[in-house]
Amino acid sequence: EEWWDMYKIVKKKSLNPTVSFMEIDAPFIAKKAEPGQFIILRVDENGERIPLTIADFDREKGTVTIIYQIVGATTKKLDSLNEGDSLQDFVGPLGVPSHTEGLKRVAVIGGGVGCAIAYPIAKKLHQSNAVVHSVVGFRTKDLVILEDEFAAVSDELIIKTDDGTYGTKGLVTDALKQLIERGEQYDEVIAIGPLVMMKFVARLTKEYGIKTTVSMNPIMIDGTGMCGGCRLTVGGETKFACVDGPDFDGHLVDFDEAMERSSMYRDFEKHHYEAACH
Ligand code: FES
Repeated sequence: EEWWDMYKIVKKKSLNPTVSFMEIDAPFIAKKAEPGQFIILRVDENGERIPLTIADFDREKGTVTIIYQIVGATTKKLDSLNEGDSLQDFVGPLGVPSHTEGLKRVAVIGGGVGCAIAYPIAKKLHQSNAVVHSVVGFRTKDLVILEDEFAAVSDELIIKTDDGTYGTKGLVTDALKQLIERGEQYDEVIAIGPLVMMKFVARLTKEYGIKTTVSMNPIMIDGTGMCGGCRLTVGGETKFACVDGPDFDGHLVDFDEAMERSSMYRDFEKHHYEAACH
């Protein structure tokens, strides 16, 4: 295998008008990858480095799946590539894997393109025989992604849209509250999506005393630990999402500070999820 074949795109498809799926030939990463971890890629030699969460992996085929939102120059360039093309760099797996051991009953909450991070966690929980209730939310029907994938790994799947064009109208927190009030007992709630969504999920679960993990992947900028862009406060301590996370205790994260900081980057190219829903 020649070096330029290293990170070949073996499959590419569009999931919705602004979100695409790519399966990349990366056997060494596929061998070690765990849900919750990310890779850093560069489209070409002069390209900017962007961190993207591993949406799926196939150890036998040696492939890693990424799902990205087309929101700026780099992701646009990435999306101009096709099956058979190769990426310049594809480094990983990075970050601390999501903790799933010992969980028996879990609610997995995904918002917008954050569902791409929630899905591999739901899949791993399902494979370890946990009961998985998934609640996924999108702005509108056209933006719904990974429905079949979630359905395959969930004991119950609830789809919410803000405008009611698909699933039921409303927010993921409405559905989670209904599940809890129906008497469902969860060892843990895992929420991944826009900051504001995670903030309100954490607020709800705190009322009920349910342990909650959130992924602070949405605030990551370059994923290297150097830019400082992903700094956040967790239980009064300073942490970096790309080094210490991306998963943190949702009841300890200072979301208001994180939202304020992330709006400071509004003028920067946004690779991620905050634009996705709500
Ligand atoms: Fe730059 Fe974490 S994303 S330091």
